Amino acid sequence: MGIGRSPAAKARAGLPRANPNDVRVKGFENHAGRMSTLFRPDSAGSDPTRRGSLDLAAGDDDDDESDDDVDPLDRMGNVERARVDDEREIGPAPRYANPASTIHPFPGRVFLEIGCGAGNSAFPLLDLDPHATVFCCDFSPRAVALVERRRRTLPADKRDRIRPFVCDASREQLCGSSDGNRVPPGCVDVCTMVFVLSAIAPERMPDVLRNVSSVMRPGGAGRVLLRDYADGDLSQRRLCDKGDGRKLGDNHYVRGDGTRAFYFEKRFVKDLFADQGMVLEELTVHARAVTNRAAGRRMDRRWIQCSFASASTPATPLPPPPPPPEPEWRRRAREAESARVERAAKVEAERAVREEA
Ligand SMILES: C[S@@+](CC[C@H](N)C(=O)[O-])C[C@H]1O[C@@H](n2cnc3c(N)ncnc32)[C@H](O)[C@@H]1O
Repeated sequence: MGIGRSPAAKARAGLPRANPNDVRVKGFENHAGRMSTLFRPDSAGSDPTRRGSLDLAAGDDDDDESDDDVDPLDRMGNVERARVDDEREIGPAPRYANPASTIHPFPGRVFLEIGCGAGNSAFPLLDLDPHATVFCCDFSPRAVALVERRRRTLPADKRDRIRPFVCDASREQLCGSSDGNRVPPGCVDVCTMVFVLSAIAPERMPDVLRNVSSVMRPGGAGRVLLRDYADGDLSQRRLCDKGDGRKLGDNHYVRGDGTRAFYFEKRFVKDLFADQGMVLEELTVHARAVTNRAAGRRMDRRWIQCSFASASTPATPLPPPPPPPEPEWRRRAREAESARVERAAKVEAERAVREEA
C-alpha cells in the first residue's frame, strides 16, 4: 500500500532514500526510537484497522502528513481529518541488545505475528527484511489456509521464510519445534499483535501474553508490539448505543456477528504486560477526528499502539490444553459396546455353570 513517501517523493523533498538492505523496525534498535512509525497511524485513514499498514522501511521520518499519506477522499474535499489529543508515554525500557541471536537456527531476525488473518501484516515483513523468518498464526484454519495459498505463490527465497500455522494463542502452546509447526523457545525478536488481543476475552489475555513470552528472546532483547482499539473509539460508542446486552464487562462487548471487541485503557495494557515481566518501551493513544463534510458526520477514532521489551526470563509455556470432550455419538457407541461385552460375558458365565451342573 502506498504508505510513507515514495522514493521519488523523497528525492523531491530532499530526503535520503531508504537503503533496501538497511531494514530496521523503526524505534526497535534503541528505546529512544519511535515505535509509532512501525504502524504509520495516518496510513489507516479513518479506519485504524485497515490492513497492510505496517511500515518497516528504513530511514523514514515520522512524517504522517506526507502527500502520499493523504486519503484520496481528502483530496476530493469531502473528508477532514484532525489529530485530537495523542497521548504518549515513554517507559524505562532497556536498550535493544544484539539483534543477531545465536540461540536458534534461523539466519536473521525472527518475527511472530499473532492473529495473522490473511497475512496482510506478515507478508510485507518478508520484503522489508530479506533475512527475516516470519512465523504467523491464527486460530482460524481458513485464515491460515489463505496465508498458505499465498505463500505457495512466492519465489522460493521468500516462500521458505514464512511459516503459517493454526494456533489458538490463548490456549495452545506457541512454543515447540519448528518442524512441528511451532516456534522454538526464546527465538522471537519481534512479536506483532495487530487488532487481535481485542478479539480475545480479557480473562484469557494473560495466557496469550504468557504464551508469547515463552517464545520471546530472553534478557529483554525482544519486542512485543501491539496495535489495538483504545477506549472511547467510535465503534465502542456505537456498541454502547445499541445496548441489547452487547456489553459483557468493562470495555468489553460482543458484536452482532458474535466476535468480541475489547477497548484498551492505558493502565490496563501496562498492567497486563507488566504482570508478564514485560517492560513498557513506548505507548501512544492515537486520536483522530474524521469529519465527512458532505454527510456532516464526525467520527472519533482512537487506537493504542505500544512497544514492550520482552521479559528478562521467558515464561514457561502454557500447559497442554485438556483433551476435547468426547462427542455424544462416540460416548453412546462406547457405552453400547461395553454393555454388549458385559452381556456376552454373562451369557458365557451362565453357560459354564450349566455345563458344570
Ligand atoms: C482483526 S483480524 C487482524 C488480522 C491481522 N493481524 C492483520 O493485521 O491483517 C484478527 C485476527 O485474529 C484472529 N484471532 C482471534 N482470536 C485468536 C486467538 N485466540 N488465537 C489466534 N488468532 C486469533 C482472528 O481469526 C482474526 O484473523
